[in-house]
Amino acid sequence: MRESLHIIKQEHRNLFRVVNMMDQILRSLKPGETPDFSFLDDVLDYIETFTDVYHHPKEDLFLFRLLRQRDAGAEAIIEELEEEHQRCPVSLKAVKDGLAAFRAQGPEGLETFRALAADYLRFQTKHLQKEEGIVLPLAMRALTEEDWAEIDTAFRDNADPVFGPQGRAETRSLYSRIVNEAPAPFGFGD
Ligand SMILES: [Fe+2]
Ligand SMILES: [Fe+2]
Repeated sequence: MRESLHIIKQEHRNLFRVVNMMDQILRSLKPGETPDFSFLDDVLDYIETFTDVYHHPKEDLFLFRLLRQRDAGAEAIIEELEEEHQRCPVSLKAVKDGLAAFRAQGPEGLETFRALAADYLRFQTKHLQKEEGIVLPLAMRALTEEDWAEIDTAFRDNADPVFGPQGRAETRSLYSRIVNEAPAPFGFGD
């Protein structure tokens, strides 16, 4: 498999794990209980850094740009995904505001926040499914060897001020911290 495809899929898996973990933690709470709010702050910070700063710009600037040049038929799905990338910070802000409200309200805020987090999980899951089920197969058919070399370099993060080793190390360590701090039985041990 192309190196960049492997990295994209790995990044999707990590994001899904974290968003899904938040949903599971909330589902496990019993009436009257509240979660570890500062842990959920970390989870939302990770999602924000990972998606908006790191993963989506790479998809926009490399994968989507090159696919659009090679396959006019991909235009509609690319526009849809770009629109979702733009909507992502707005949706996440709603979740962050919801968490602040839940924290202020205490246990009776649980249901409202649980619904917000479940909506967010659905939004992210559908987005990842469209990329893996539609866009990556189109890219595998349409992109040239040169295109893939460019995408591989971008996703490998060499010598880039935003996506370079520093950025990568930072997101990696955020991910590990979340996974290590997760309350049992929600950690992943990796
Ligand atoms: Fe995306
Ligand atoms: Fe993605």
